[in-house]
Amino acid sequence: MLGGVNDIAAEKRAAADAALAELPARGVIGLGTGSTAAFFLEALALRVRSGASYVGVPTSKASRALAERLGIPLLDDVGPWSIDVTVDGADEVSDALDVIKGGGGAHTREKIVNAASRKNVIIVDATKRSRLLGERRAIPLEVLRFGLGSTLQRLATRGTPQVRTSADGTPVLTDAGNVLVDLVTGPLLDPRPLDAALRAVPGVVETGLFISRADVLIVSPPLAVFRRQ
Ligand code: 5RP
Repeated sequence: MLGGVNDIAAEKRAAADAALAELPARGVIGLGTGSTAAFFLEALALRVRSGASYVGVPTSKASRALAERLGIPLLDDVGPWSIDVTVDGADEVSDALDVIKGGGGAHTREKIVNAASRKNVIIVDATKRSRLLGERRAIPLEVLRFGLGSTLQRLATRGTPQVRTSADGTPVLTDAGNVLVDLVTGPLLDPRPLDAALRAVPGVVETGLFISRADVLIVSPPLAVFRRQ
């Protein structure tokens, strides 16, 4: 049973360290966003300092800044990239290895990097697991500010949309300057049609639903590796 913040951090680090076994000996690595991905960047930086030849593609300004501080060589933000493996965190992971991402608001860039990767590894502590997506988390959506009121009306037919705000009440913005909307749906028996419907709403840039996009899931505790069949 995971107790305090320190326990959870230790388990995130354990999952992140285990992801090193999924990397080729050298190559292009997609760098996720969030606290678990940050542990992976630290582990990767140690490899780089020992002479390993890796170059990263960051999924956010924050991950780019961290990777630069750690001395990981990076490609530019434009590409095209040919990414061997991307390692990223998640907010919720179902038994079917489907994923909700975007707690850090980086899911659009994360999905672009995921789609450009030959293998995608998701690293989480065990608190992120659920039977069905939506049991624990709302679905993050990146939404244009233009027409936000109308977009929210449309989204309300699919769940309860909440604009994400900071402690001072101002909207949280993505790296692209868009708004984040968290759509509360409850457990989803089949998230794929909902993902398609949400992406069809004008104004929605991208959803945090990552369906059939994880090839490998590493969870801790207990440390376990699951592979998509
Ligand atoms: C950012 C994400 C993160 O991977 C997700 O929020 C998990 O974060 P953490 O590892 O800090 O729990 O999707 O957009």
